[in-house]
Amino acid sequence: MLLIKTRKQLKEHLWALDKKDDLGLVPTMGALHIGHAALIQRAVAENSVVVVSIFVNPTQFNNPEDLKNYPQTLTADLEIIGNIAKDIIVFAPHIQEMYTEKVKSESYDFDGLDKVMEGAFRAGHFDGVGTIVEALLTLVKPTRAYFGEKDFQQLQIIKKLTEIRNIPVEIIGCPIVREANGLAYSSRNERLSKSMREKASFIYRTLKAAKKKFGTESAINVKEWVKKQFEQHPDLKLEYIEITPTNTLKPVLRKYKNIKYRAFIAVYAEDVRLIDNIALN
Ligand code: PAF
Repeated sequence: MLLIKTRKQLKEHLWALDKKDDLGLVPTMGALHIGHAALIQRAVAENSVVVVSIFVNPTQFNNPEDLKNYPQTLTADLEIIGNIAKDIIVFAPHIQEMYTEKVKSESYDFDGLDKVMEGAFRAGHFDGVGTIVEALLTLVKPTRAYFGEKDFQQLQIIKKLTEIRNIPVEIIGCPIVREANGLAYSSRNERLSKSMREKASFIYRTLKAAKKKFGTESAINVKEWVKKQFEQHPDLKLEYIEITPTNTLKPVLRKYKNIKYRAFIAVYAEDVRLIDNIALN
């Protein structure tokens, strides 16, 4: 494994490679878990060269406490990456490398994809994500870039970003990886107590039940049913439940047969914010 910390070094290293047109990028904020490992394994299987970036991007945090509490575990991350393949390039830049002048986001028009759900509850979040992902894609120039479907809205926005900025890369979404109890893997799970980590499995159980109901009931009824389940839960606080077509992410008013829908949820467990989603049909 090669650990690179500056843009200059990374550029020089990539420039010298033969296989520049078969390069996979896995952007991460570190605190790697099994979900990240699955992305990296897939990138290794599909590309001759793989770059994993580790950078906790300040501009995508709307909540300073969340940024402060975000786990930073570089030594453990490098071990996980080294166990997947020995020749992975790890790019772990310092903040000044990625934000040379001001630590500030670009402003994007994502065609409304950023105005709902995570975008509505986390002001400026997707401009921050767009800024850093655009910077990484233009620096690394990967053939393929890998993102988890746990952040499904992010995935759709990154596809839109490559379209509006004309970035020639294949964006690959990878399925959500879950803990044994069904809780989606997230770096934030580490902040949950053992008992809360078990209780939080309620989120996925409820999504699975919602999926079943969606077969026979309206989207509005399903959302109301989910809200009730969380009202009755003593420890978990629902922030939102939304059902939308997979492509527009606009809240559904009426179901159509030939459209693919997904349910999206954000929940607080103690002070930890967890998100998840499920394909409904
Ligand atoms: O999904 C993440 O970890 C981050 O949003 C990403 C894509 C690495 C950008 O900072």
